[in-house]
Amino acid sequence: MVDGGRLWRRLSELAEIGKQESGGVTRLSFTEEERAAKDLVASYMEEAGLAVREDAAGNLFGRREGKDPDAPTILVGSHVDSVYDGGNFDGPLGVLAGVEVVQTMQEDGVETEHPVEVVAFTDEEGARFSFGMIGSRALAGTLSPEELKHEDANGISIADAMRDYGLDPDRIEEAARQSDSLAAYAELHIEQGRGLENEGLPAGVVTGIAAPVWRRLIFTGETGHAGTTPMVLRHDALAAAAEVMAVIEDEASSTGTSVATVGQLGVEPGGINIIPGRVEISVDLRDIDEGTRDRLEDRILTRVRELCEKRGVGFETEVLQRMVPVSCSETVRGAVRAAYEGLGLEPYDLASGAAHDGMQLVRLCPIGMIFIRSRDGISHNPDEWSSEEDCATGVNVLYSTVLDLAGGT
Ligand code: GLV
Ligand code: MN
Ligand code: MN
Repeated sequence: MVDGGRLWRRLSELAEIGKQESGGVTRLSFTEEERAAKDLVASYMEEAGLAVREDAAGNLFGRREGKDPDAPTILVGSHVDSVYDGGNFDGPLGVLAGVEVVQTMQEDGVETEHPVEVVAFTDEEGARFSFGMIGSRALAGTLSPEELKHEDANGISIADAMRDYGLDPDRIEEAARQSDSLAAYAELHIEQGRGLENEGLPAGVVTGIAAPVWRRLIFTGETGHAGTTPMVLRHDALAAAAEVMAVIEDEASSTGTSVATVGQLGVEPGGINIIPGRVEISVDLRDIDEGTRDRLEDRILTRVRELCEKRGVGFETEVLQRMVPVSCSETVRGAVRAAYEGLGLEPYDLASGAAHDGMQLVRLCPIGMIFIRSRDGISHNPDEWSSEEDCATGVNVLYSTVLDLAGGT
């Protein structure tokens, strides 16, 4: 059995890095906070007897050899970056669970055929650059130099941030792994929804992962005097954006399955007595079915163009990132189900509304995930919470899953 107390202690220690007044954390990629978090995880990996290294994308690995040195690796992990004022479980749980699994194997003298590697991926969340999964894309070999041009709120590109962090963006392709080097990827994560809580279950088997498309929408109107410009003569970029937000909500609600969020809003010039001339909003659209999501996107864009034309407001849009929903592999799901049954738990299937690094790895190896119950389904919020007991249950399921996939004895 894994040491649930040790895992919980480490989760609390990691929660001190980038801690906010709210009790949540802000750990953006390629910052001091992410560095400190990875250093702490590296120290746990060393305690667990793992060989520690970082790749060209800043992904942190801890490796435990298997009996067959040439066998492909079983990769387990998650991320340690966070959203702005995020919770303490989204990401860290999966990384620390991976360390706990291999440390327990080490302590129990368990041998596996395959090597097992624990990974803390760089920038899963996309909070800093409105573009995420940088580390897992690099590992999958799909991160293009063009994508390193995405900028943060201060105009710093991913490439520049990497340089400041001591990485060379021109060497990013060195982070790519070949598919014959990986046998499977398994991740433990909090559910971030209410499914398990509603069922009264501690944990579940993830069937598939819904995928986001992130866009920037830019509205160009005409600045003017708030006191002298009659309503009929205005081309108010913010009024147009407000109407667009209502359209987005309306269209997403009408599908019954999709979700849509406007999380960023920039207004220029931003004066109380100036009609807004330029507005940028972000939009995040998701569905477990790609066609449903893409049709939703089309309907929204059609309506936005119509309403901007009517208002005499210019409209432009760009895609920030577009992901494809994925199914978790039968190989990993089968191992997870067997792990539940071994612990006397009923395997319960559920899909993920949140995106995860495994989505980037499907072209390399079979992937799968284990979810544990989230209190009130709250996530991307300082109040995000899963109990110590549920965390320990999740890690025990992960342990048996990894043992099965890695051919442990
Ligand atoms: C990350 O948690 C995401 O789903 O955007
Ligand atoms: Mn996560
Ligand atoms: Mn997240």
